[in-house]
Amino acid sequence: MGHHQNHVIFVKPFLRKDSWVLDVDCGTGRIISDIAKICDKGRSIGVDVDELVIHIAKAKYQTQSNLIFICFDLYRLPNKLNICFDLILISNILQHLKDPLKAIKTLSKLIKPSGFIAMKEDDWGSFVIGPENEYLNLALILRQKLWKANGDDSLLGRNLKSLTYEAKLEPVDISSQYLFFQNKKDIYRIADQLIKFYSNKNNTDALQSYALVIQYTLTKVITTLKDWKFSNKAIFTHASIQCIATNPKDVLL
Ligand SMILES: C[S@@+](CC[C@H](N)C(=O)[O-])C[C@H]1O[C@@H](n2cnc3c(N)ncnc32)[C@H](O)[C@@H]1O
Repeated sequence: MGHHQNHVIFVKPFLRKDSWVLDVDCGTGRIISDIAKICDKGRSIGVDVDELVIHIAKAKYQTQSNLIFICFDLYRLPNKLNICFDLILISNILQHLKDPLKAIKTLSKLIKPSGFIAMKEDDWGSFVIGPENEYLNLALILRQKLWKANGDDSLLGRNLKSLTYEAKLEPVDISSQYLFFQNKKDIYRIADQLIKFYSNKNNTDALQSYALVIQYTLTKVITTLKDWKFSNKAIFTHASIQCIATNPKDVLL
């Protein structure tokens, strides 16, 4: 099953044919395109801050008449969208934002009183990489440490429930799944992302300046990743945590 299908399965019970749906970090639009097919009597909008991905999404899905793409920063969505949506989807971006709580509160103003916010975040503290190897483990742990030093929160998934309450919303469905990768194509992609990360001088300089690692270990990490990429024994799995939230009942009364 493709990565985007997990998102669609997760929100599907909360969609109607006439739902208005907003995906606030839609990338090239695959998830919101599938949602627009389910809500074929409603409207779907994909938003992303990156002009290039919006350009690609517009070209890819131009035949879907109930689907539009707009380039916007999720913190600066226009006021006229207030109380418009039956469901807003935000996934794998809260962990990269300086103020995820502010983002959730901003979005909560855009849902109808009985609408939903669907949040889904990978939790990188839950990974298993195999076969067992200390340098493979380090490849993931060091990347997480640098993300953290740079202000990202790679463990945000486990805090989705508490963030929901802090935003004065009510969780109605929380669950988690382990995403499991073992076929060649996925292992190539994951290995390449990690090799690219450790081939970036800014990253390796930063890791060394924070005294998180020495050059010898970095070299071992890269050579181990290159071997792992072509190993038919390679597996990788990590948790993704998802939460659907709505306005508390006493606000609706
Ligand atoms: C990791 S991708 C997630 C894509 C998709 N939601 C998914 O789960 O596959 C993050 C996306 O968020 C977009 N993004 C980052 N900051 C944003 C912001 N402030 N407002 C809207 N989109 C943003 C990026 O351009 C990128 O396309």
